[in-house]
Amino acid sequence: MAFESTSSYIATDALKQAVNAAVVLERPLLIKGEPGTGKTLLAEELAESLNTQLITWHIKSSTKAAQGLYEYDAVSRLRDSQLGVEGVENVANYIKPGKLWEAFTANQRVVLLIDEIDKADIEFPNDLLQELDRMEFHVYETGETIRAEQRPIIIITSNNEKSCRMRSYAAAFPLH
Ligand SMILES: Nc1ncnc2c1ncn2[C@@H]1O[C@H](COP(=O)(O)OP(=O)(O)O)[C@@H](O)[C@H]1O
Ligand SMILES: [Mg+2]
Repeated sequence: MAFESTSSYIATDALKQAVNAAVVLERPLLIKGEPGTGKTLLAEELAESLNTQLITWHIKSSTKAAQGLYEYDAVSRLRDSQLGVEGVENVANYIKPGKLWEAFTANQRVVLLIDEIDKADIEFPNDLLQELDRMEFHVYETGETIRAEQRPIIIITSNNEKSCRMRSYAAAFPLH
């Protein structure tokens, strides 16, 4: 099961060790590096070597941490209530699961790639610390708790574009 170099991916010993430690310890792994150094490819290769699904959450400057959990579409619900659409009384119909939700509830252990986390604003990593650590969160609108039965393998990448912002996060997951 150990992560190795393949014909399409060359991994150094240090990288292999870090990846395998993250898999065994079930802790998120933060990979930092210049663009084009194989960070995204690493997650793809890892999912393939574990023969599992890769769920990618690509971060943009406008991405909010809560979107990774779920989004509540209040606008559609209001419109549907005015149109008398069936099911409008059930708030669950307007909850759209995010990538963490998808990864936590997958029926196998998946690889979750949170790609280019440095694109987001300064609070983004801090806002996800608890959910990534406990691998569970509460859906306030429905009262349910989403909990990972099988903790996904989480790979977080940063292009170092705003490296000062990442320090607190690196300290939170001092695996590498
Ligand atoms: N370790 C590696 N082994 C093989 N190819 C690599 C490796 N690192 C980078 N590459 C090549 O560089 C390309 C860009 O890698 P990518 O994962 O997109 O970089 P990043 O996500 O760090 O910007 C890949 O498609 C691949 O062709
Ligand atoms: Mg990339």
